Amino acid sequence: MACTLLVTGGAGYIGVHVLAALVEAGYQPIVLDDLSNGDRRAVERVARFTGADIPFIEGDVRNERLLDAVLAHQARAEQPVAGVIHLAGRKAVGESVADPLRYYDVNVGGTVKLLRAMARHGVRRFVFSSSATVYGAAREMPVTERHAVCPTNPYGHTKLVAEGVLRDVTAADPGLSVAVLRYFNPIGAHPSGLIGECPQDVPANVFPYITQVAQGRRSHLAIFGDDYDTPDGTGVRDYLHVMDLAEGHVRAMQHVLRHPGLLTVNLGTGNGISVLALVRAFERVSGRRVPYRIAPRRPGDVAAIWADAGMAHRVLGWRATRTLEDMCADGWRWQRMNPQGYATPPEPVPSGIAARAVRGRRTVTSLVPLLGGHNEVGRV
Ligand code: UD1
Repeated sequence: MACTLLVTGGAGYIGVHVLAALVEAGYQPIVLDDLSNGDRRAVERVARFTGADIPFIEGDVRNERLLDAVLAHQARAEQPVAGVIHLAGRKAVGESVADPLRYYDVNVGGTVKLLRAMARHGVRRFVFSSSATVYGAAREMPVTERHAVCPTNPYGHTKLVAEGVLRDVTAADPGLSVAVLRYFNPIGAHPSGLIGECPQDVPANVFPYITQVAQGRRSHLAIFGDDYDTPDGTGVRDYLHVMDLAEGHVRAMQHVLRHPGLLTVNLGTGNGISVLALVRAFERVSGRRVPYRIAPRRPGDVAAIWADAGMAHRVLGWRATRTLEDMCADGWRWQRMNPQGYATPPEPVPSGIAARAVRGRRTVTSLVPLLGGHNEVGRV
């Protein structure tokens, strides 16, 4: 029987790609998501194109009664949760400056409550979504995991505090096994074009903004600064394909299933790409123009940051394999096929994965009715 894994935040952008990679690798994911920034239809689409049955629970990760009910239900059903991939959290820098308590409550409090529930149910394998934002304005490039951490905003502080919680609980309990993944800049989409990034408001990040300009939904991209100390003056980041990132979670889970202790690892390509280079690559691949204007620097931005991805390769055997062109082509396919995001009726599954999709008749089932009386506590 497939090993069951709980994915919090599994209906979000990263989450649904992680689901696809987990099913591909032979795992059985279960999703817990409060849908504050995710979409149940995205999970349904993954179920459809993978042919998997993916249980979905709508609820908040801070709801301990719900966590207990889910973990107990799985144990009773003899499909105990073997590990947790914790992606649920808030991630908008500006919002975190305006409402830091919310960020501490969800990102730190949610992690603590989840770890407590796991302890009550004997679940001891944990993969955590952290961010390269913990490095702040890094001094040495590429950034290794040993580089000093110094976040520059409340969002980054909450990720660092959660990392500290994980360090301390792992030190206290030698049987616990934790991987902290410091993501660089995930972009793009699953090659099927069926799942991708779906910002609820005006995109805050550069790549979804570019795809919306190419689509004609926005007039132009504002490039935040062309006077940085970088080759073309625009900001440099380590963009990685979201499916590479998703596969990194699979490798990290495989690692924690075998090795106790704490592993903190960067997930990036090791390549620094400027905003202008990203725009040019996207134009080449999509055949669309992306008009842009140079705007003032965005407060809090760093000039350049990219990963030393060596540890992920040495310890996890993981390395990003997709190119910048793949990221652009797959991101553009998602945008073109889904101009209204998940509200767009999905096109037939592309031929490459049609054979597998035939098995996808069962879509998402909900665990909530099985939990007896927990429908109400499913939301906080
Ligand atoms: C941002 C967050 C980071 C978070 C990540 C989550 C900030 C300062 N950092 O990373 O903490 O983990 O998102 O996805 O918000 N750019 C433009 N025009 C735009 C948008 C961005 O020129 O409309 C530039 C930025 O100045 C930067 C690059 O594009 O040089 C990447 O920006 P973005 O996609 O927002 O990612 P980060 O700032 O690296």
